[in-house]
Amino acid sequence: MSTTDSSIATNLAGIQLSSPVIAAAGTAGTLDELADVLDVTKLGAIVTKSITRDPRAGNPFPRITWTRAGMLNAIGLANPGLDAWLSDIAPKIVQVPTPVFCSIAGDSIEDYTQIARAMDSTASVAAIEVNVSCPNVHSGLEFGSDKGALGELVASVRAAVSNAKLFVKLSPITIGTPSSLVDIARVAVDSGADGLTLCNTVPAMGINVHTREPVLSNITGGLSGPAIHPVIVRLVHLMHTQLTRETGTAIIAAGGVTRWQDAAEFILAGATAVQIGAGLFADPRLPIKINKGLTKWVARQGQAQIGDLVGQVAKRSS
Ligand SMILES: Cc1cc2nc3c(=O)[nH]c(=O)nc-3n(C[C@H](O)[C@H](O)[C@H](O)COP(=O)(O)O)c2cc1C
Repeated sequence: MSTTDSSIATNLAGIQLSSPVIAAAGTAGTLDELADVLDVTKLGAIVTKSITRDPRAGNPFPRITWTRAGMLNAIGLANPGLDAWLSDIAPKIVQVPTPVFCSIAGDSIEDYTQIARAMDSTASVAAIEVNVSCPNVHSGLEFGSDKGALGELVASVRAAVSNAKLFVKLSPITIGTPSSLVDIARVAVDSGADGLTLCNTVPAMGINVHTREPVLSNITGGLSGPAIHPVIVRLVHLMHTQLTRETGTAIIAAGGVTRWQDAAEFILAGATAVQIGAGLFADPRLPIKINKGLTKWVARQGQAQIGDLVGQVAKRSS
């Protein structure tokens, strides 16, 4: 078994990762199901699917479909709930040979805080990713678009978490809210987030022109994959130049990584690490290829460590 080259090891908000490549929430199961098809030590970390206080069946099928440049999903946060997570999943985390980040979601500040506190007491949880950006559930975007509610939520979760690092995962869409994404992110950072995950899926819809029905039972869903990649590159660049370069807050970028070049672009834009979602469905061994591509790129760029390239997009010469 070959090991990952040390030039792509990186430090993400104090968490040492062997690679900047992370499995995105909801695309790698409740823990390490990917281990059936991928040596998970090739991943810098795994983010588990979002866990809510009560079990959720999610939306009726069909809830996933492919588009020409990615995936449309309306899973609706199907998950076993906190009690089952604590009894069945938490004890196994310690055996996973890569850091485990746990994604959480809820309907209220109390929900989020209760889940975060319970997960944080499981010492092997490296980070908690607060999902305030799910487009597929009622009120899923509420906390991520209201600065007041987000500030209260992040402060409350922060007070409940002392072992794990805290990431807040935002929606790329702020249309209809009076705030920009940077304004919203600043509230999360000021309220105690160690890092930002940019971003969740883009609200979207598909229609079957023969039956004239929406393709998803939920009618709308979240678009991910290559179609959204350039949109997220811009947001990561904006966030880095307008907020995180100054505050030192780590960014994890998520959106359409299917080649090493996509991951490299995110790093130059200002991300310390990248998540892969839709790309894992198409090729679960993609992280291995991306690690190899990034290793060669770091050497070609004349750098010893990939961290030296974070935010290093050059000025155009003309
Ligand atoms: C099938 C599917 C399920 C997802 N479930 C979750 C989830 O439970 N929690 C969450 O925060 N994001 C979830 N996401 C969003 C991904 O974590 C990621 O932010 C998004 O897909 C963008 O990355 P990608 O373009 O590489 O897919 C899901 C995405 C997909 C495709």
